[in-house]
Amino acid sequence: MNIQAFLSEKISMAMSAAGAPADSEPLVRQSAKVQFGDYQANGVMGAAKKMGIPPRQLAEKILEHLDITDIADKVEIAGPGFINIFLSPVWVAQQAEFALADEHLNITKVTPETIVIDYSSPNVAKQMHVGHLRSTIIGDASARTLSFLGHNVIRANHLGDWGTQFGMLIAYLEKKQNENAADMALADLEEFYREAKKCYDEDEVFAERARNYVVRLQGGDEYCRTMWRKLVDITMQQNQLTYQRLNVTLTEDDIMGESLYNPMLPGIVADLKAKGLAVESEGATVVFLDEYKNKEGEPMGVIIQKKDGGYLYTTTDIACAKYRHEQLHANRVLYYIDSRQHQHLMQAWTIVRKAGYIPDSMSLEHHMFGMMLGKDGRPFKTRSGGTVRLTDLLDEAHERALTLIREKNPDMDEEELNNIARVVGIGAVKYADLSKNRTTDYIFDWDLMLSFEGNTAPYMQYAYTRVASIFKRAEIDESALTQPISLTQPHEKQLALRLVQFDETITQVAREGTPHVMCAYLYDLAQSFSGFYENCPILSAEDDNVRQSRLKLARLTARTLKQGLETLGIETVDRM
Ligand code: ARG
Repeated sequence: MNIQAFLSEKISMAMSAAGAPADSEPLVRQSAKVQFGDYQANGVMGAAKKMGIPPRQLAEKILEHLDITDIADKVEIAGPGFINIFLSPVWVAQQAEFALADEHLNITKVTPETIVIDYSSPNVAKQMHVGHLRSTIIGDASARTLSFLGHNVIRANHLGDWGTQFGMLIAYLEKKQNENAADMALADLEEFYREAKKCYDEDEVFAERARNYVVRLQGGDEYCRTMWRKLVDITMQQNQLTYQRLNVTLTEDDIMGESLYNPMLPGIVADLKAKGLAVESEGATVVFLDEYKNKEGEPMGVIIQKKDGGYLYTTTDIACAKYRHEQLHANRVLYYIDSRQHQHLMQAWTIVRKAGYIPDSMSLEHHMFGMMLGKDGRPFKTRSGGTVRLTDLLDEAHERALTLIREKNPDMDEEELNNIARVVGIGAVKYADLSKNRTTDYIFDWDLMLSFEGNTAPYMQYAYTRVASIFKRAEIDESALTQPISLTQPHEKQLALRLVQFDETITQVAREGTPHVMCAYLYDLAQSFSGFYENCPILSAEDDNVRQSRLKLARLTARTLKQGLETLGIETVDRM
């Protein structure tokens, strides 16, 4: 059960019964301090002000109408008008039982929505680099979270697979094929792209051929299509390996590249013109948006078709949003793209809405993120200043984790060592990204992310192995635990409360696309478990009922940690 939502609703009802204005919303949050209860409601002050009565007087009235006696032991008014709620241990224990008995940890059922998640989105004939890493990792966590909740998730890998550069790439691929060196050239896509560009810039005959190929490709010419396909396939084969390594759920079936929307573009330009939204301006077709002003304070012009007939990134994103409504019937579309593309998206969506291509109810959300920075606070680069290739980064993560794990387990066999190093190394890179509020830049720091202390993957993964091992040591099956959970010690209640807060945590992550909220929760949970473990003997508890109750709490902790990490795409191992 989502306790936060439940309390919000109850208090909201009591507020209206107490005569508060219709627009007053209580803000119910987990309390920061134990003495303030488990939850604290805010918002009474604002409502009382509007009513012109003292806040405490309104609070008293709210309490008269508030009926939560079956879940709370004590409700009190504090300070200028906060309402503090102390949940009953019996009720919390019962919720924990429900979670334990359910394979989905008893989280609230959702009304399934169709949610498109636009993420990863690398470019053809280019190596995926660290810039695509954040989108891939955070977007995948969001996809996993929403699927777990029961939504119909459509993963959309908006591959950059279209544009004028393909003339040059096809011409270069042809050149390499003629030299029987295509395979080798394609092995390093970054190099391939650079060389193609060089030929284009330096060789006029080559450039002419390239320009001709663009036209033919757009006209559907078979030869050019085949060459183009080859470039797309090779890029995606390489990227697919990276996804697998990263434990990212994207498959080849999720590719919905820019080319998919290409056939829609002429119709959209014509339609925007017919609707009077787009006009000819200096040979190009432009939409002027009052919502955005240029430096001179005039409406900003967004080009949707160039003078030479070419379409732009924006035109494709207009078509793409339309497609996601018409073909995919999306209720929500979440775009995991870095913050520098915010204006681009806002412009495309403003046009989409003005043209009435999607219903008002469909939500388009830019879940943006900042850049990945080096320890020096500058954009993350190799020592020589180049962009870091993702594969190199992951290799290094593995190597570093291997050294670490070997130090801890000198006697472990190579195979297991390697597996743990993989799980920890990749987990560290992912978790470091996921645990930061995505909207800001973040500093990539090997030492911090691989530390066994703090809010890191190794800490969380290790916490999981510890909890899991208790159960193994007990040598009993979960089904043998027949006694109910009872919460008599403060540390027991604290842990159980955390456990049942998984529901509201995952709900928030699903709504806001903020995996760092899940990380913070899991970290808190692991710490609550430590507190419990140090203060409440489990296996050596004298009373068998107590022992069983505590084992149940340990079991639920292990399952919640594992499930939480799974929604983030972080693997666990049984020992490390
Ligand atoms: N391929 C683009 C890039 O590398 C990202 C695409 C993001 N998705 C979108 N619908 N525009 O910058």
